[in-house]
Amino acid sequence: MRQIWIMKNGLILPCEKATISVMDYGFLYGDSVYEVMKSVEGKLFAAELHLQRLRYSAEKLGLPVPWEDGKIKAELNELANQIAVPWVYLRLVLTRGTGPFFFDPEHCEAPVRLVYGTEFIPFPPELYSRGVDLMISEFRKGPSRHDSGSVKTGNYMDHVLPRYRAQEKGFHEALMLNHAGAVTECTSANIFWFSRGELFTPDLSMGILNGVTRQLVLLAAERVGIRVQEGSFALEKLGDADEVFITSTTRDILPVRSIGEFRFRPGLDTERLMKQFLETGLG
Ligand code: PDD
Repeated sequence: MRQIWIMKNGLILPCEKATISVMDYGFLYGDSVYEVMKSVEGKLFAAELHLQRLRYSAEKLGLPVPWEDGKIKAELNELANQIAVPWVYLRLVLTRGTGPFFFDPEHCEAPVRLVYGTEFIPFPPELYSRGVDLMISEFRKGPSRHDSGSVKTGNYMDHVLPRYRAQEKGFHEALMLNHAGAVTECTSANIFWFSRGELFTPDLSMGILNGVTRQLVLLAAERVGIRVQEGSFALEKLGDADEVFITSTTRDILPVRSIGEFRFRPGLDTERLMKQFLETGLG
């Protein structure tokens, strides 16, 4: 297994030495928020957008974040430097902390701040040239229990279970529909498609995560003058798509080869967007 390093409340430890209380509400109830980030050649990728989302998620849970962005970024950089490889995977977790039994956030001790770091190994290049297969999940994405799907909490079973099911069946990811049969997102990625040169994606009111990669893709599309339609789209709409791709921090823009009966190929529109995306994210 790859070596994992942990920074707990500012202190770096090897993973085996890091501990968390069994009474931590993050462990007991999933009462925590997190971000998956990366550091590329010594530079945090899109750190501001990630920290904005972390604060948004924490606010929705009423979880205090009593640290400046500058301090959090310095810690992320310190851990990335410790790992000393060009690409570092970073996971920032904030848990409610230790508290009494039953739901009593008022009496919880201070929140715990964790950063996990390990070497970031990108998906193999052949997945990008060939495209990946998505399973249409039997799990439907319901109206979120915390107002909006864009809250990234440690309570992730709604996504973990469909992902296990997809992996068991040999799929890269599971595409989740909502109860009305509209496309929402994958278990750990947002979805986009091109149809006659126009770019389509579900909008945030569908209860999807406001992906950092999604935000950068929308910006990149604007910069190269691609028309974008965000909305509520039935699964059948994907039948008209020419090119489909999914987006996330660990994938950037990853082309899709199939969704159920529908077949696609990576194409020139996606390629053009990928080039602009890299410039937008780093610049
Ligand atoms: N997942 N949608 C969901 C449900 C996600 O969990 C993620 C990210 C995304 C893409 O978001 P971003 O572009 O900010 O990575 C969309 C992370 C990578 C994870 O938990 O593994």
